[in-house]
Amino acid sequence: MDMADVGRSTATAPEVIPTDRLVLRTYRPGDHRGLLVFHGRSDVCRYLFNEPWDLAAAREAVQTRISRRDLAAGALALVVEYDGQVVGSVSAWLVDEPERTAETERTAELGWAFSPEFGGRGFATEAVTALLDYVFATPRLHRVIAQMDSRNESSARLAQRIGMRREGHFRQNAWIKNEWTDTLVFATLRSEWPSGA
Ligand SMILES: CC(C)(COP(=O)(O)OP(=O)(O)OC[C@H]1O[C@@H](n2cnc3c(N)ncnc32)[C@H](O)[C@@H]1OP(=O)(O)O)[C@@H](O)C(=O)NCCC(=O)NCCS
Repeated sequence: MDMADVGRSTATAPEVIPTDRLVLRTYRPGDHRGLLVFHGRSDVCRYLFNEPWDLAAAREAVQTRISRRDLAAGALALVVEYDGQVVGSVSAWLVDEPERTAETERTAELGWAFSPEFGGRGFATEAVTALLDYVFATPRLHRVIAQMDSRNESSARLAQRIGMRREGHFRQNAWIKNEWTDTLVFATLRSEWPSGA
C-alpha cells in the first residue's frame, strides 16, 4: 500500500541513491507532472488506498512528499528516475508506537508504485532493493515490512523477489474502497539483509 504521505516532516535530505540503471532522489516541485502519468491511472491505483490522482491531487501529494526526507526522523519519500524520466515512487516510514524513543530499535514500512509503461524490466526490483540497502543503513533500524492487498500479485511477487518473507495473510482486515480486503504482510530483518547484517 502506498503510504508515502504518512509520516512526520523532517529537514535532512538523503544522498541521491544511484543504481545500475536508476536514480532515487527526494521530491522536487514539478514532480507532479511525471507522477501524474501513472498515479493518474486506475490500474495503477487499483490496490492503493487512493483513487487515481487528478492534477490537484498530484500537486498536493508532491507538496507533502517534499518534506519526507529522513527516515530516522519519520519518513522518506523518493521518486525513481530512468534516463531523466520519473518512472516510479518509493517510500519508507517508521511504524513504531509513539512512545518508542530514538534509542529504541525500530520498524519501517515500505511503499512503491511504478509506471506500467516501464513494467516488466526489473526497475521496481532494482529500486526497492536499493531502498532497502539505504533503509538498513539507518541507525537502530531492526525490521522492515511491506503490506499489500492479497489480490495485488505483482506487488507480492516484487516483495518475494527482493527477498522479503511472507509472514501473514490477514482475512478481510481492511475496509478499502467500499469493500473488506485481505492483506499480505512481508518482512525482513536487518540481520537477514545482505548489507545489514
Ligand atoms: C508492484 C509493481 C511495482 C511491480 O511492477 P513490476 O513491473 O512487476 O516489477 P519490476 O519492475 O521489478 O519487474 C519485474 C518483472 O520484470 C521481469 N524482469 C525483467 N528484467 C528484470 C531484472 N533485471 N530484474 C528483475 N526482474 C526483471 C521479472 O521477471 C518480472 O516479471 P514477472 O512479474 O512477469 O515475473 C507494479 O505492478 C505497480 O506499481 N503496481 C501499481 C502500484 C501498486 O500496486 N503498488 C503496490 C502497493 S502495495
